[in-house]
Amino acid sequence: MSQSVEPAAGEPALRVSDLRTYFPVRSKGLFPKTIGQVKAVDGVSFEVYPGETLGLVGESGCGKSTTGRSVLRLIEPTSGRIEFEGVDVTGLSSKEMVPVRRKAAMIFQDPYNALNPRHTVGAIISAPFAVQGVKPPGGVKAAVQELMERVGLNPEHYNRYPAEFSGGQRQRIGIARAVALRPKFIVCDEPVSALDVSIQAQVINLLRDLQDEFGIAYLFVAHDLAVVRQISNRVAVMYLGQVMELATREDLYARPLHPYTHALLSAIPVPDPRAQKQREHIMLSGDLPSPAAPPTGCVFHTRCFQAQDICAVEKPALVEPTTGHQVACHFPILEFLGTKGILGPDPGLTPQAGGSLTGAAAGSNDLIREIGTDYGVGPDTPIDPGPSIWR
Ligand SMILES: Nc1ncnc2c1ncn2[C@@H]1O[C@H](COP(=O)(O)OP(=O)(O)OP(=O)(O)O)[C@@H](O)[C@H]1O
Ligand code: SF4
Ligand SMILES: [Mg+2]
Repeated sequence: MSQSVEPAAGEPALRVSDLRTYFPVRSKGLFPKTIGQVKAVDGVSFEVYPGETLGLVGESGCGKSTTGRSVLRLIEPTSGRIEFEGVDVTGLSSKEMVPVRRKAAMIFQDPYNALNPRHTVGAIISAPFAVQGVKPPGGVKAAVQELMERVGLNPEHYNRYPAEFSGGQRQRIGIARAVALRPKFIVCDEPVSALDVSIQAQVINLLRDLQDEFGIAYLFVAHDLAVVRQISNRVAVMYLGQVMELATREDLYARPLHPYTHALLSAIPVPDPRAQKQREHIMLSGDLPSPAAPPTGCVFHTRCFQAQDICAVEKPALVEPTTGHQVACHFPILEFLGTKGILGPDPGLTPQAGGSLTGAAAGSNDLIREIGTDYGVGPDTPIDPGPSIWR
């Protein structure tokens, strides 16, 4: 199920720069006042290139869905810049956004709630044509039935209602609606999390086929690294509204640099019980802090096994120590590169011009030696299909 990871090139389908989405926290009572802010997305930057999938992964509440909705301006961002195919859409009015919406769509997690139960499948899939005033040659019905066939639905079921379909089929209806106008970019917000494991693979394969056929760029949101691994070319790891690490799929799973990514990787179960028993499991201390009161300095410092004094004071910049591999950490984990089995001897990690390996001190690497870094989960390792794990 692996796919090649080619470096992205050319003009991005989507470019997001320093995106922030804060929600006001209001006091209770007759005259509520704004008493704080939930920093759901706090300075996120990334690009998604035509035909590629950028996976967005992190714990519940870290801001993945808010990021996805903000880039489509379904939620109004507080600040930052969003560009589709080089055009800045951040300040466009609702009317000016209409043609942009033809190029961008969303697939939702819950295929039950995402479809209006009182509308037929034909009406649901033809909605984008109606909203955008698009008249396909041959008529809307023929176009919708062609779409139904393309996503694996029986076109004769055009007049049926969502309740007459299984979960997987409903997600196919949502996918047909999303690709109806041949968008350039789709936010897939946990599109398979609500489906049975056996159905998840089929839906992922469909998304991949459509991507190949139409050259669509996906921002693919998921809870865990095992899921995004299956479809992503590159992966961004989020924590408390910020990107901690962003790298190609190969790099992220074989050469993770951020302590949080290490913890996530160490938590992925593998099917071999003996290997599972021998694996290192990094336990994070404490609970996820509230995005209404994020920790100072590095937002991960309250749970980080690498943290030093500076981490509570100074926010680490997102730097790019090797081409295409970004990390926000004062003490990125480098020691394993030459010592533990995943990668083999020295892969030649050297800081790039402009990047810095701040604080990659011997002391931090001693910690890693104790913890170990061989999680036995490379980019193509089989993964145990747990309830939230897709294989
Ligand atoms: N409309 C809103 N008003 C106030 N706070 C919100 C709103 N939407 C989201 N939040 C808060 O913003 C933070 C990020 O939420 P978001 O739904 O983006 O997280 P997520 O990573 O998608 O989580 P999950 O994996 O559970 O879907 C959470 O603390 C959430 O409670
Ligand atoms: S900056 Fe410090 S606290 Fe943050 S991830 Fe790196 S080592 Fe941990
Ligand atoms: Mg979400």
